[in-house]
Amino acid sequence: MTTTTTTTIIPSNPSFFSSAPFIPADAIFALTAEYTADKHPQKVNLGQGTYRDSTGQPWVLAAVQKSREVLLNQGLNHEYLPILGLQTFRQEASKLALGGEIYDRVQDRLATCQSLSGTGALHLAGLLLRSCRAPLPKIYIPAPTWSNHHQVFSSLGFECISFPYYSATSKSLDMETYLATLNGCPENSVVILHACAHNPTGCDPSREEWKTIGKAMKERKLFPVFDAAYLGFNSGNVDDDAFAIRYFVGELELEVGVCLSFAKNMGLYGERTGCVFFVSNAAQAATNTQSVLEMLQRSEVSNPPAYGAKIAATVLTDPELKALWYKDLETMSGRIRAMRVALFEGLNGHGAPGNWDHLVRQSGMFGFLGLSPEVVLRLKEKYHIYMADNSRISIAGLNPGNVDYVARSIAGCLRGE
Ligand code: LMR
Repeated sequence: MTTTTTTTIIPSNPSFFSSAPFIPADAIFALTAEYTADKHPQKVNLGQGTYRDSTGQPWVLAAVQKSREVLLNQGLNHEYLPILGLQTFRQEASKLALGGEIYDRVQDRLATCQSLSGTGALHLAGLLLRSCRAPLPKIYIPAPTWSNHHQVFSSLGFECISFPYYSATSKSLDMETYLATLNGCPENSVVILHACAHNPTGCDPSREEWKTIGKAMKERKLFPVFDAAYLGFNSGNVDDDAFAIRYFVGELELEVGVCLSFAKNMGLYGERTGCVFFVSNAAQAATNTQSVLEMLQRSEVSNPPAYGAKIAATVLTDPELKALWYKDLETMSGRIRAMRVALFEGLNGHGAPGNWDHLVRQSGMFGFLGLSPEVVLRLKEKYHIYMADNSRISIAGLNPGNVDYVARSIAGCLRGE
């Protein structure tokens, strides 16, 4: 008879990783996981910024659906893309942001590189700045901001400086402090700008305010990096949403970086479809910059994912699909606008204490309610309504079937019920 014995190996040396700290899970992804695990039938997810249709389901855009069919009919393969990404995608993405006329003017001064969505675009921008600028520029980031901005740049060794963007008292953009910050920045600092649909406040500068911001940046010799994750998704119109980028490049003739994502405006969240581009004032500098981007991309991801880029390039190059996409943008932004109004009316209708006008002044995917963390927690625990700790809600999570419940619950919570 044979007997099997199992021995437990007890390591004698401390782990190679014993110095690794424990990092708490990313708040917004952890919230999605909590929501998914919740079994309550009336649960509502207003956390992560992902578009949902009027029945609360993810939506594959009609243009994207068609584009997938075109690709399948053409015979889709899984070959590597070039290191810089799909050429037509890079070209069309930068043309979309700049508009045809400005694109034609600056195309020989452009450095473009496909990226892993908007995060990857920001990261490549950071890598590029780190490898080309000494001393390292300071990165100025508006507060509040998207939860990942600081992490992307500080993980690359940059000093990140928060500056007030939003006044909690007036519930609007704090233009005075914004300009005072810009005027006090050291020359050659980098400023992160939300091109539109400011995340989390939903509060963008007006056109006149953008002009003032741009002029201040030019005077102070600051370098703008636009985080443009919502072009077309904000207003339903790409040209309106790209105003700031086009003004800075076309009118002020500034050098800029632009980080594009097709997660929201084409619903390509998980395909990681993005692009980073830089407009330079010299053709040789652009050629060199692009060569640096190519080297950085090679050492990091080798070459970017193909499927989303092919879908987006097909939509952007086929006039019929592009027209369909413009309609999809109207559908998404229109539904969000309608839900914003429905929530506003519901809050007032249910007598929610306070003034809610800011909700309808804001635009884009998010509403910034201005609730205390205690109320946010109570909404989750008692009513199974999930939102970010700072009371940012993804309006796309509202629909005709839950908006009244949400308004009633917020009103109840604020009355202490
Ligand atoms: C959000 O702000 O909720 C989204 O952009 C998702 C994310 O990656 O944080």
